[in-house]
Amino acid sequence: MSSDKTETTKTAANAADGSTTHFGFKTVAESEKASMVRGVFNSVADRYDVMNDFMSAGVHRLWKDSLINSLNPRANMRLLDVAGGTGDIAFRFLDASEGGEVTVCDINAEMLRVGKHRAEEQGYAGRAEFVCGDAQKLPFEDCSMDAYTIAFGIRNVTRIHEALAEAYRVLKPGGRFLCLEFSPVVVPILQKAYDSYSFNVIPKMGGIITKDEDSYQYLVESIRRFPVPDKFAAMISDAGFSRVGYRTMSAGVVALHTGVRI
Ligand SMILES: C[S@@+](CC[C@H](N)C(=O)[O-])C[C@H]1O[C@@H](n2cnc3c(N)ncnc32)[C@H](O)[C@@H]1O
Repeated sequence: MSSDKTETTKTAANAADGSTTHFGFKTVAESEKASMVRGVFNSVADRYDVMNDFMSAGVHRLWKDSLINSLNPRANMRLLDVAGGTGDIAFRFLDASEGGEVTVCDINAEMLRVGKHRAEEQGYAGRAEFVCGDAQKLPFEDCSMDAYTIAFGIRNVTRIHEALAEAYRVLKPGGRFLCLEFSPVVVPILQKAYDSYSFNVIPKMGGIITKDEDSYQYLVESIRRFPVPDKFAAMISDAGFSRVGYRTMSAGVVALHTGVRI
């Protein structure tokens, strides 16, 4: 675990203005969460992609393919992939959209460094830009994007409603919003096995593969703290989006949320 993460692990009592939020199962000052999340991804950036394949047995690739299928990218589309990290969504989009361009925006420079390196290695560099920025205050103009995607990122954002408002702001009228996020398993018989795998196996696996067990403990805890799909869909509607809906995949492990800015 990186030192900037441990140093910022303070309790609600330290919150200067009294506003608190959660960081996994811990209660922390709102003002501290972003740097704690940054610590998580600084620490795991170089092994992040390998760990995704191990812990999901490669299934995260299918979830990401589903997001791109649902987006059905058209030619020359401009996509903003927020919390885009190492570029998994961006590169799938570029494969599917003739002449499309993507901006990957992430709060973490280390994740972007890995993404940029992949883009150069795989020949995507001319059509992909990597921008360091916060989902809650996007450094992009109003009505400038054809689509906004965020995969496994919004759970880490301190004020989700602000990120949704920003998504709405930067989309052009008619622009699509798509979000992949974890959700509770809906098949009761699988719940116990999923919980056991999440809490007993994933952090240990993270310890071996990334040398950071704590970051993967945060991952499994943060999944449990994220609003259930109906509640999150209501938040997307509250941000102004129309035609809001979602569908779950893999027995509910993941939900793909969609909406349109009219
Ligand atoms: C689990 S990773 C997902 C990366 C990528 N989208 C994927 O699916 O592989 C979460 C990402 O969210 C980023 N992130 C967390 N909080 C953020 C914020 N407030 N604004 C932008 N990015 C953020 C992290 O730096 C990290 O790269």
